[in-house]
This record gives sequence, C-alpha cells and structure tokens, in this order.
Amino acid sequence: MKLCMIGTGYVGLVSGVCFSDVGNTVYCVDKDQKKIDLLNKGIVPIYEPGLEEILKKNFKQKRLIFTSDLNKAVTNSDIIFICVGTPTKRNTNSANLKHVFSVVKDLKKIIKKQYKIIITKSTVPVSTGDEIEKILINLKKKKLVDIVSNPEFLREGEAIRDFIYPDRIIIGTDSKKANKILKSLYLPIIKKTNRYFNTSRRGAELIKYASNAFLATKISFINEMANLCEKADIDIKDISLGMGSDERIGSRFLRAGPAYGGSCFPKDTRALIDTGNKYKTDLSIVKTVVNSNDQRKTLLIKRVEKILKGNLSNKIITFLGVTFKPNTDDMREASSIPMIKYLNKKNSKIKYYDPSGEKIDFKGLRNVNYCSSISSACFKADLIILHTEWNDFKLLNFKKLTKKKKFKIYDMRNMYSPSIMKKLKIDYFGIGR
Ligand code: UDX
Repeated sequence: MKLCMIGTGYVGLVSGVCFSDVGNTVYCVDKDQKKIDLLNKGIVPIYEPGLEEILKKNFKQKRLIFTSDLNKAVTNSDIIFICVGTPTKRNTNSANLKHVFSVVKDLKKIIKKQYKIIITKSTVPVSTGDEIEKILINLKKKKLVDIVSNPEFLREGEAIRDFIYPDRIIIGTDSKKANKILKSLYLPIIKKTNRYFNTSRRGAELIKYASNAFLATKISFINEMANLCEKADIDIKDISLGMGSDERIGSRFLRAGPAYGGSCFPKDTRALIDTGNKYKTDLSIVKTVVNSNDQRKTLLIKRVEKILKGNLSNKIITFLGVTFKPNTDDMREASSIPMIKYLNKKNSKIKYYDPSGEKIDFKGLRNVNYCSSISSACFKADLIILHTEWNDFKLLNFKKLTKKKKFKIYDMRNMYSPSIMKKLKIDYFGIGR
C-alpha cells in the first residue's frame, strides 16, 4: 500500500520505516526541511537502536521517501497517518493539538477526489477524531475520508520490537471499508488476527490513555511500596517477585526506581485527568499517581541529602545515566533534571556521564559537567548516583573508578546487590532496600 506518515519523530519515523520494511511505499513528511535533508542523507535524527539499518535498506529500495511536500505525499498515498507531537499545554493538564489541527486543515485543501483513510496515530484526547471529522465534514459526506484512531504502544529504545511484535493492534472506526483495508495493512505484521481489535474510535483513543495511565499507576504503586520497605527493612525486589508471579498482576513494570519520566506517562496521565474533567468524572486514582510521582522527585533529593548527612556544598556527586530510561537519548521529564538542578543550587559539584552523550538540559549550569567516560565521571566522587540502568553500568569496579577510600553509592535502579556491596565494604544505598 501507499502510506503517508506526517511527522518524523519517534512515532512517525519508526512506524514509517517498519511499514516500508514489509513492502509498503511510505512517504515520511516533515515541515522541518533540515530533518528531511538529514534523512535523505541516511542520517537518523533520533536515537533508536536498529532503526538506521532498516531505514537505509528501504530508502535504497525506494520504499521510503522523505519529503517536506505534503501535497505530493498525500496525493500519492491511500492511508495518511498523523504522527505529530501532542505535548502538554504549559500550566495545564491538557494536550496541545495545534499541530494536529493544522495538518487536518492542510488535508482539507489537498484531498479532492480520491478516498483516503486519515489515521490519528499520535496520542490524542478522547473525541479528537470527532473534531477532525467536523473539520472534514464535506469530504466525509462525499465518502472521501474516514477518520480512524490507531494508537501506538511503542516504548523508546524498543520501538522497532514493539512495532513488529505488538501485543495488539487497535483500530478505532465504525467504517467497514476502512477496517478491511487496515486489517490487510497490519496482517503481514501481526500474522495472528487475534491481536487485531476493531473498536469504536473513542474507544481506541481511550485505550491508549488508559493503558499508559495504568502502567504509570503500577510503577507508582511499587515505588510507594519501596518507600514502605525502606522503613520496614524489607527488600522491594522480594515484593516485586512475590507480586509479579501472580498472573493477574504480571511481573513487568514492577521495578522500583526514581520518578517515572519520558514523553508519554507524564503527558498522558495529565491529559486523562483533563478528559475526566471534560466529562465531569473524577479520576481520583490517576490524580493520585501524578501527585505521587511528582513528590517522588523531592523524596529522592531528600534521600541524597540524608546520605550526605545534609552537607551538599562542594561535595562531588556523579550521575551515571541521566536519560529517562536506557537505550534512548530522550531527556523529556527525566527525573535527573530536577535532581541535578537542585543539587547544583546547593553548591554540589556535579559530574555526569550518559552513553547517549551530553545534554543541553544542563548546559550553562555552573558546576554541572559532562564527562566523556565513566572513569572520569566517577574519579574522586563523594557520591555516585546510578540514575539510568544502561548496560554500561552493570559491572563497575567503583573503588578503582573513584580512587577514593570513602565514597557512597546511591543505586536508584537496584542494579547491584546490597550483600555484595557490604562484602566489598562499600557504603551502598538502594531503592526500597
Ligand atoms: C511508554 C509505554 O510503555 C509505551 O507503551 C507508550 O507507547 C509510550 O510510553 P516509554 O515512555 O518509552 O513507553 O518508556 P517505558 O519503558 O514505558 O518507561 C517509562 C518510564 O517508566 C521510565 O521513566 C522508566 O524508567 C519507568 N519505569 C518503567 C519504571 O520506573 N519501572 C518499571 O518497571 C518500568
């Protein structure tokens, strides 16, 4: 089929490349000409393991076309995916849909006589599809468009695997024609029809938010259990194992850590609360999750102060990993940002290393320095904070790295064993242990 992905970010580019890899012709459109130029040189603007190789292969076979010409791309495609950003509007909980509606207005001018399926793949609040349909009502009346919700469930760093081996494909539409076409689009990927679900459009929109909010709830739950474990001298890993072995609970997303971050959980939980307000329904659990996660940032900073006995000034504190999770360069809502800014204000000397490189988030901060290696980051540190569980940090010899007799480790991802640390006589602190 001929597809058009509008927006070449984490969602649009990964989906477009993977669709082309199973034989579709895919136009990837972005109004940022610089991005398009990079893509046409085979340079991938996002950090997603494995993407570059598949992109180059399909680009060479002319199944992938990168262009800023929306008109040409839409005219030549049967299915149009809207994959633009829907960030949280400043000082509110609601999703900013200005990019979505500006694309829709463009489509209104371009689509004339050929039937197109218009898909919202970006995460959009419940009833956005209805609003899009209103804008395109004339085309809808002429049966020239169907507006469909097809949310993505891609995790950064595992996006290709999540696309090729999805737990489910959700297609929100009441159009039999659109559903039939989309089933044939996805079947080469999912192979089993029992992973393909046709729901109402609003149902599909809500499934996305409800899924992310539930995962955020699960993480916040185990994080709060970790707080209890620290007071009751229990190891949270036992709790995660004991709970997770119950099929009804499931072992994934039960790893205690710092506050969750990323471009989705924080944004989607807030947007869901906003949807609750719109439909006059109190989503008290989601509200509690958002508050619990926000408070966690302060809680962990207090823990750092306690570990350093309240004396932060001039202390050398090393962050190993600053991204919101491993195998990505994404810093959006990373819990390292408020922590490093706070410690910097308290006159600590911060050094950080991250395999995905230096971060603009810390540029210009007086005593925050990026180190290009683990050893230079850990050298002479008073406290080493393991913030992101990159594989690079799994087997470190801290004594050799710090070249110091006395130092402390705060392992925010429980990567190390407290008993081994004790044997090594290293002053070790974990989460919920
Ligand atoms: C998430 C959803 O998983 C994905 O389905 C959706 O499409 C987009 O949002 P992503 O934000 O990329 O994906 O990362 P994810 O792996 O879900 O982690 C989100 C946050 O939760 C990270 O900060 C991570 O560190 C944290 N997390 C995750 C935990 O603290 N504990 C866990 O057990 C799992």
